[in-house]
This record gives sequence, C-alpha cells and structure tokens, in this order.
Amino acid sequence: MAAKDLGKPWGGRFSEGTDELLERLSASVGFDRRLAPYDLEGSQAHARMLGRVGLISAEESTLIVRGLDELRKRVAQDRFQWDPRLEDVHMNLERALVDLIGPAGEKLHTARSRNDQVALDSRLYLRDMARRAGSELRRLRAVIVEKASKAKEAPMPGYTHLQRAQPVLLAHHLMAYYQMLTRDQARLGDLYRRLDCMPLGSGALSGTGLPIDPQMVAESLAFTRLAENSLDAVAGRDHLLEFISFGAILMINLSRLAEDLVLWCSQEFAFAELPDSLSTGSSMMPQKKNPDGAELMRGKSGRVLGNLTALMTVVKGLPMSYNRDLQEDKEPLFDTVDTLLLVLPVAARLVEGLKFNYGRLREAADDPYAPATDLADHLVRRGVPFRQAHRQAGEAVAYAVRNKKALVDLTLEELREFCPEAGPEVRAEMTLPAMLAARVTYGGTAPRSVARQLRAARRDLAAELRKGAV
Ligand code: ARG
Repeated sequence: MAAKDLGKPWGGRFSEGTDELLERLSASVGFDRRLAPYDLEGSQAHARMLGRVGLISAEESTLIVRGLDELRKRVAQDRFQWDPRLEDVHMNLERALVDLIGPAGEKLHTARSRNDQVALDSRLYLRDMARRAGSELRRLRAVIVEKASKAKEAPMPGYTHLQRAQPVLLAHHLMAYYQMLTRDQARLGDLYRRLDCMPLGSGALSGTGLPIDPQMVAESLAFTRLAENSLDAVAGRDHLLEFISFGAILMINLSRLAEDLVLWCSQEFAFAELPDSLSTGSSMMPQKKNPDGAELMRGKSGRVLGNLTALMTVVKGLPMSYNRDLQEDKEPLFDTVDTLLLVLPVAARLVEGLKFNYGRLREAADDPYAPATDLADHLVRRGVPFRQAHRQAGEAVAYAVRNKKALVDLTLEELREFCPEAGPEVRAEMTLPAMLAARVTYGGTAPRSVARQLRAARRDLAAELRKGAV
C-alpha cells in the first residue's frame, strides 16, 4: 500500500496514495512532455480568457501568463524537472506553476479538464507538425520535378509485372511518383483543414456551467471553429488517425520509390548509381556499395503502418466519451511524425543524388520485341480489327524470336507473311523515338505529353508556395 499522496490534485477524494505499479502504468510524461510548448500556449490563452470574463482577476491572469512564460523558457532550455509521479505533462506544468507563483496558479484549471486540454494540445501540435511535414513533402516533389526535367527525353523500359512492356520516358516514370505524392499532399491539406476546431470549453465531457468565452480562446489560437459537441471533442481521435493514415499511405508510396531505386542500383539493372555519401559499404565484402538509405526508407514504412494499426485498435470499441486508453494515442502519433520528418528529407536527397546511366537505360528501352503493340496499332490504323492485329503481331514476334532478329529488323516482306496489311511506314513506326512520340494521349509518355505534365507540376508547386498551402 502506498502512502497517502496529497501531491495529486484529486487528493481530497482519496485516503491512500497511488500504487507504484499504477503510477508506472499511468505515467505519460516521459513522452507527452513533447506537448509542453503547445500545452503552455493553450493555457496562456485560457488564462487570458478567464481574466477577461472575470472568473479570475486581471492581476491573477497576468501572474499566470507570466508564470507560464517562465515555464516556457525552462522547457525550451531543457531546465524543467519532469516528475513521473505527476503522471503527465499537464499536471507537471500546473504543479510547477503553483510552485512558481503561488495560489493564483491554482486557478488556472478553472472550467477546464485535462480531457479538453489534451484534445487542444494534440490539435496545436499536429497543426505545427503537419505544416512541417507538408513543406518537406513539397520539397521532395520539387526535387522529383527537377530530376525529371534534367532527364529530358531519355527513354527507359516501362514495366508491368516487372517484365519489360513498352518504352517510356524516364521523366514520365519519375513523375508517376510526383503524382502519387501530390495526392498525399492533398490528403494532408484536407486533414489540416479539419484540425481547425477548438475543443476547450468541453470540460471533462459535457461542457461547463462557468461563464467562459471559448470564442476568444479560439481566436487567440487562430482557430476559426469551435467543437460542436463536447463529447465528441474529448472522445474523438480521428484527427490523429487521419494524420497517421496519411503518413502510412505516404510511406507506402515512398517504399515503392525506394524499391525502384534499389532495383535500379543493382548490377542486374545498372540503371543508376547512388552517390557514395548516400550508400554504405559492407563490413565483410570490400567491393559492396549498398543502397541502405533507400532500403531504410522502404523499411520505415512498416512502423508507420504499425502505428496506424495500434491507434485504430486503441480507439475501436471505446464507449463514449473519454477513456484513459486514449492516452495511448501519443506514441504512435509522435513516432509517425518523427519517421516522416526523418524520411522525407532522405528521400529528397536520394532522388537529387541519383546518377542515371542514360546509355544503359536507352539500351534496355530498345527491347527487340517492345514494338509489338505499335505493330498491332499500325495494322489497326489500316483497318485490321484489333484482336486480329494482336494475333498477327504475335505471330511476327514468334517468327522474330525464332530467327533471333529484332522486330524492327524484319523486312517488309517477312512482316507481310504474318501481317498482310502492313504498310511501308511500319518499320519507321517501330523505332524507339517513334514509339515514344506516338503516345500523345493526355497523361501518355510522348515527350510532348510529359512536357505538359512537367509544366503543370511546376505551376501547381508555385501556386501552393504562393498560397502558403500545407
Ligand atoms: N494524460 C491524459 C491523456 O493523454 C490526459 C487526460 C487525462 N484525463 C483523465 N481523466 N485521466 O489522455
């Protein structure tokens, strides 16, 4: 049995102190102290409001705000003494305030619960982190656009099933990632807008009977909306789930980019090389140069997906409204933020530092049988139904394979044995530049289409920067 601990704010109700085991289970200050700057910012807005509406005197309000300023300094300079027996960041800061300014400090928690307090803190924190992640993501997208522009009209093989399929521009391949990441950015922007909701005033769960002014708090913290429902405000964690979902999808997109980099840098592909500064050696094999940066970027996706599963599982099936389980929201959130802020700049460096072997890419793009579709398309243009054209082109490929010739090297006479409608221009249409130039559909790989894509991307990035988008 633990000794009666009057240090807890609920000491009045209790006749004995907290068991050491529960204390260890309860303590979150080891990780939620990260919220301290946001908690202090929220408390200052709350204290100013309490003074304004007359729940505390103007002098008390000023005293509290100044005291919290001092605590901000201690936190920023890492001079704050965190005490795990005080459970969490909120109680640590409140206790320090009382120690610092005396009885006025005991008025700070008027009309507030840790339930609405932590709901506010997580929104303030996430607003900040979402902006940071957003600008790192935008930088990565800009790097991809630059890299794609530098690749000009360089061809490479396009793949399906990891089998050579049809040639594409390297720029087109890179821009596919840009498009994926642009949707990630849009998802972030959407969830950021929904963070604009101020929960303070919800109290523990039902609101408060004290005459507070949440609108004033909202304005001073740059929120435009108040929580519509106090139960939802203290119980909801979908704002965090949305962020981690965004993070998980982003990481999975990045893991695919990483996989391409790993493949490209293998001797088998030899499409690209990473700079030494972004590779590691082997402790045993002196010749090795390993793409660890890309591999870790791929591997880190696992933990973010794990964080999403963890928090989804915590929230699932919880009864309305606040339950202490919700304290488990923080570590998955923080780990997701840390991972994104670590990996996004690495991704940008990896893409920036890639050195392409354009000769090897072209050689691989010039696959002897890649023009099969173009042969079929040629026949279609001359009136052959596509299914027949497909079969005829297939027979021509089989013949070329048997005779160890590239499709483009078959003579018109040889081709006409299988494709009687083939016209004299067919061989020109089966060259690499012609195949690429033909794919002029919107979003296709023709240099013209890719140039349009690049222009649109540059325009969008510039507009996002101008608007200060998240
Ligand atoms: N540390 C708690 C959390 O993060 C704060 C809210 C505690 N509320 C309570 N009723 N015990 O969820």
